[in-house]
Amino acid sequence: MQKILIRGGRALRGTVAVSGSKNAGLPLLFASLLTPERCTIRGLPRVADVTTSLRLLERLGALVGDGEFSTIVVEARTLTSSEAPYDLVKTMRASFLTLGPLVARTGRARVSTPGGCAIGSRPVDIHLAGLERLGARICQAHGYVEAEAPRLRGARITLDFPSVGATENVMMAATLAEGTTVIENAAREPEIGDLAAALGAMGARIDGAGTSVVRIEGVRELGGFDHAVVPDRIEAGTLLLAGAITGGEVHVAGARADHLDALVAKLEEVGVAIEARADGITVRGAQALGRADVRTAPYPGFPTDLQAQFMALMTLGDGQSVITETIFENRFMHVQELVRMGADVRVDGRSAAVRGVATLSGAPVMATDLRASVCLVLAGLAAHNTTEVSRIYHLDRGYERLEEKLSALGADIARVRT
Ligand code: EPZ
Repeated sequence: MQKILIRGGRALRGTVAVSGSKNAGLPLLFASLLTPERCTIRGLPRVADVTTSLRLLERLGALVGDGEFSTIVVEARTLTSSEAPYDLVKTMRASFLTLGPLVARTGRARVSTPGGCAIGSRPVDIHLAGLERLGARICQAHGYVEAEAPRLRGARITLDFPSVGATENVMMAATLAEGTTVIENAAREPEIGDLAAALGAMGARIDGAGTSVVRIEGVRELGGFDHAVVPDRIEAGTLLLAGAITGGEVHVAGARADHLDALVAKLEEVGVAIEARADGITVRGAQALGRADVRTAPYPGFPTDLQAQFMALMTLGDGQSVITETIFENRFMHVQELVRMGADVRVDGRSAAVRGVATLSGAPVMATDLRASVCLVLAGLAAHNTTEVSRIYHLDRGYERLEEKLSALGADIARVRT
């Protein structure tokens, strides 16, 4: 078992580089299943979810190799299996993104249903409805989804909700379908644009990715790609919030302000100074930290993946902030732990009323999911005395060398084995 120990109270200062995006990198890995040719993905973060994805690709028969400087090469020359098994899918929902590429390339796929997870029930009905519209015969039995189609056919698909994963799954499947697919109410997250760019390099014909209407002209086959993944906007936002909560000054090199408009607006609203430049974003802690209400929403709204971290900041704001989570039904598990650190937060359904306190106090706390864990790390950086965060395997799913990055900025933080 590993824990993170933080002795809080130090203002972070300096420059830190953002890693490549986990949530853009995972679909890129699965896009490699669409072609027998070599796919090179640059700048992938070395996090547990990437490792899980590589194991899954190997299980399907792909060859996976390490290049230099965080580069991964995948070659799915021949696929030896069309099945994504339960033992891998249950640990990482993004494995469900094998469904579209597998059925499009091999005509069939058998993928374990991911089931619910700590932050919500997270069904896959929108993915399945989209693939059915493309002509896949779908059947669910024994905890698996089976999809079959000799060749998918293009169709007009209106998603019930702009689901990120469903947009990615359907978009990948449609690249090899016969004819034109139009996805309406598509997700607009930057990760969709990044996937479309890689698919375009493979020879796919995609228009409108990053808007709510994506048009895909199917092609017979696709080639490989060599693509550098976009910077991780959620890690960048987390590092900016680390600078803000400690009242420090941090430059996040490589962070893209155009992907973080909603967070930047809220930081400015609470008095945190932000300077966006071409090479990154600099944050300067507020003289007097204010309050702000936040409502999560699909991109370009405020990201659910930064809700917990922003709440950590608002525990120290002046006045009451109301934080409403609209994407996942159970994404307030950090609240009880923040309360144990002295925060004043009350949850009522999908909203949390956060009344700012003068100080947080270090405590032993437990991580429950990826973003909840990092929220506790942020709170620990600002708290008096020592905070001990356990169950940090959640953190390792999505943050690359977090302690190293924060230490380099002056944080007193260490990973210990118990
Ligand atoms: C992606 O998950 C991200 N994961 C999540 O990142 C992120 O929180 C989420 O998008 C929202 O931005 C990856 O990119 C790998 P959705 P995804 O489908 O694709 C419901 C993190 O911390 N829904 O947009 O699974 C669903 O239950 C995480 O890095 C259906 O009802 O998200 C949820 O309430 C966790 N039916 C909402 O839509 C479906 O078929 C949004 O889900 C699909 C989704």
